[in-house]
Amino acid sequence: MNPAVRAITRTGLSNGLEVYGIENGYQGIFDNQLIPLGALEVSGKIRDSGTFLSTSRCARMREEKGPADAVAILRQNKIDGLIVIGGDGSLTGASKIDQLGYPVLGLPGTIDNDLYGTDIAIGVDSALNTIIHLIDMVKATAASHRRCFVIEVMGRSSGYLALMSTVTTGSQVAVIPEYRYNMENVLANLNRRMERKHNNSVIIVAEGVCSGHDFMKHMAEAGRDRFHQEVRLTVLGHVQRGGVPTHYDRLLATRMGEFAVLALMHGETGSMVGLVQGKMQLRDFDQILGKKKSLPSDATRLARNLGIEIGDAVET
Ligand code: F6P
Repeated sequence: MNPAVRAITRTGLSNGLEVYGIENGYQGIFDNQLIPLGALEVSGKIRDSGTFLSTSRCARMREEKGPADAVAILRQNKIDGLIVIGGDGSLTGASKIDQLGYPVLGLPGTIDNDLYGTDIAIGVDSALNTIIHLIDMVKATAASHRRCFVIEVMGRSSGYLALMSTVTTGSQVAVIPEYRYNMENVLANLNRRMERKHNNSVIIVAEGVCSGHDFMKHMAEAGRDRFHQEVRLTVLGHVQRGGVPTHYDRLLATRMGEFAVLALMHGETGSMVGLVQGKMQLRDFDQILGKKKSLPSDATRLARNLGIEIGDAVET
């Protein structure tokens, strides 16, 4: 998010605008935490994870009068337009602001990559790079001690992080919400691997299916004495959100930030910037919010062709 705030600030300044950052998410509007942003304030921010403006989940925006109160405060402060960076909740707030006739655009900012209308959101690539780095490190112990590891990753109700990290770490099983896992097949996959003299295995569990702990319990119940490896659990947790922005994310956030400012200046409102097949585009909030984003079909095919156990697609 920091590289996006930097790009918005610098593009705004280059185009003769005054730019303000709102601290603490929507709550900062109600608390009057609007701070002027210049080149100095965003200096170096392209390298930092998280957001230097800080953020929060804001209950007041979900109240009926919340969006109208927010717009009134923005107008009192002579703010002419707003760019919101966030996931489904933040963009739902932005959509309500748009319905009140106030100029607003959104940028997709969530590691879950669950926003319809963009192939990828800001933060996903950095989170995945952190995840694969950590899984690679767990694999050192898996191999040295000839163990099976269950690794729980984030993603809310999306299996994107779990699936992509399974593919790119050479792990054996992805347990994801979009597919129903079959414990018999999971154990068969791992046992086959042992028979082929591989001495370790890794199962990546998306938090949206169950906790890694519950998956371990299910494995123990179902596997009984058929699976002859020690199994250990690693829950990656919030470190997944703290990685230094990757090259890909810096560029994505910078391009999206610039695009949003130019679009807002041209009178665009009520939509989210997305990257679709390599091109920046705007999609209306009402075309994207509440829609279920599917996993890329080439990624599930790829996983299957690599011999990764993912189970059967859940009917939606
Ligand atoms: O939506 C991003 C995300 O990191 C999810 O993957 C995760 O479930 C959630 O946020 C964690 O939220 P919190 O930091 O409030 O515990």
